[in-house]
Amino acid sequence: MSTKENWEALRRECAGCRGCPLGETRTKLVFGDGNPESEIMLIGEGPGEQEDLQGIPFVGPAGKLLDSMLQMIDLDRSRVYIANMVKCRPPHNRDPQPSEQQACRAWLDRQIELVDPKIIVCLGRIAAMGVIKDDFRITREHGQWFTLNGRMYMATFHPSALLRDPSRRPEAFMDLRALRKEIREICTRTC
Ligand code: URA
Repeated sequence: MSTKENWEALRRECAGCRGCPLGETRTKLVFGDGNPESEIMLIGEGPGEQEDLQGIPFVGPAGKLLDSMLQMIDLDRSRVYIANMVKCRPPHNRDPQPSEQQACRAWLDRQIELVDPKIIVCLGRIAAMGVIKDDFRITREHGQWFTLNGRMYMATFHPSALLRDPSRRPEAFMDLRALRKEIREICTRTC
C-alpha cells in the first residue's frame, strides 16, 4: 500500500471506531489536519464545537489563536501535522476521560508512526500527560525538551488556556521560540 492509501485506510477505520461512547454523540470525526510528511506534529486534547461541526482540528477560537502562534515562528498548517488525543468531541467540551483517551490511543500512535515526526509538541496538560509522562506539570515543565524513542517532545500551554489566561502568553511565546530554534537546528542537520 502507498502512504496515501495507508492514510486513507487509517482514516476510514478510525471513522468506524466505536471503542468508546464519544463516537455515538459526535457530529464528525476529527482525524487530523496539515502536512502528513512534516517533521513537526502538534497534539491537542480533543475536538470542540466548531471542530465537531467541520471535522477539522483547531478551527474554533483556540484554533485561530494556534494559527497566529504558528505564524509568529513562520509556521502554518502546511508545515505541521495536527492531531488530537481523542478524535470525537467530548460532550460540552469536558476533558476526555482516561478511558476515552486509552480507547483512542491506537489511532494517535498510528498517526505518529505514519508522520514519523522529529518533533512532537503537546498542546496543554492532557496531551503532555498522555504522550510525555503521566505526571507532567504544565506550569513547571512547559518549554522543556524530552527525548523519547528517538523523538523530541515539548509541551506548551493549550491555546484555550491562553485565551482564558492571557498572562501566560509571554511564556508560551518563549516555548515557541525554543521550538523555532530546534527546527532550525534540525534543518541545518538534515535539510
Ligand atoms: N482543542 C483541542 O485540543 N483540539 C481541537 O481540535 C480544538 C480545540
